[in-house]
Order: sequence, then C-alpha cells, then structure tokens
Amino acid sequence: MKRILLIGFMGSGKTSLGKLLAEKFKYDFLEQDQEVLKLSEFKSINEIFEQKGEDFFREIEHQSLKNSVARDKVVISTGGGVIKLEKNVEVLKQTGNIVIYLKTEFSEIEKRLNGVEDRPLFKDKNKALELFKAREPIYLEIADFVINTDGKTLDEIVNEIEDIL
Ligand code: S3P
Repeated sequence: MKRILLIGFMGSGKTSLGKLLAEKFKYDFLEQDQEVLKLSEFKSINEIFEQKGEDFFREIEHQSLKNSVARDKVVISTGGGVIKLEKNVEVLKQTGNIVIYLKTEFSEIEKRLNGVEDRPLFKDKNKALELFKAREPIYLEIADFVINTDGKTLDEIVNEIEDIL
C-alpha cells in the first residue's frame, strides 16, 4: 500500500480524516486544493474559478493529482470533483493506490458547509445537490472501500479504516 486516496463530496471529511490517517500510518499528507494553489498564482479556489473558470482549475487539479501519486507513503485528500475528468479516474485506479470513498448524506454535508465560503460549486445548494446525485455512483464505482461517515466521530472512522486496511 503506497498511497491512500480519500474521495468524496465536498464536506465529507477528507481533509480532517486524511490528516489523522497520515499521522497514524506515518505517511505524508497532501491536500489537493492546497497543491493546486501551490501550482498556480492564485490565493484561493474561488479566485481561480472566478478569473479562469472551472476547466482551468480542472487541468491544474489533474497536474497536482499526477504529482501527488508520484510519491509513496502519502495520504491524499482529493477534491470532490476529481472524478469529473476520466484521465483523473485512470490515475486514481493506478496500482499502489487504495481509494476510499467517504460516504456522507447530503443533509449532513449541508450542515458542515454552512458558512464555508471557499467552495464555488456549493454556493447554489440545488445545483450542489444535483452534482452530489450525479457523482455518488461514480465515487462508489471507483472506490476500493466505502466508509459511511454519518454519525461517526473522526476517531471511529480512522479506526474503521485501519481495520479494513
Ligand atoms: C470541488 C471540491 C473542492 C474544490 C473545488 C471543487 C468540487 O474540494 O476542489 O471547490 O468540484 O466538488 P473539496 O472536496 O476538498 O471541498
């Protein structure tokens, strides 16, 4: 097991969990939005979407994903839209990657993202719900493991992931 990749919708806990998992496994932690910002000249994801549009963002996201999976012993928290490009799906499926889908109800996601600003695709809740419905089957299809996060603490989820790995 070289890399653990967490996938799931915005607000499913990929970043919080990823940090804890990385600590537990003594792996490095990479958060894809942060990696995207490092590769670009922008200060926020909102700024990229506003000034350059989503397609531009997706290309940098692809580059940053490729850079991240070139490393070993890493936990990678992907962006919720990583599954949008087929070429990212191919990268996710590469040997050495364990892909874990953090499955969370939309109602729970709404609560968690209440007041969070830097999510351009969560500004319109109806559109976000449509995205959620369209993406869920893809997350399920790609994942090696599916973890239900609803009603669980971060520690419980980390222990569950440790058990399955
Ligand atoms: C996106 C998810 C975000 C970020 C960008 C687009 C998406 O990452 O990459 O706002 O399309 O779902 P998180 O899943 O970490 O919030």
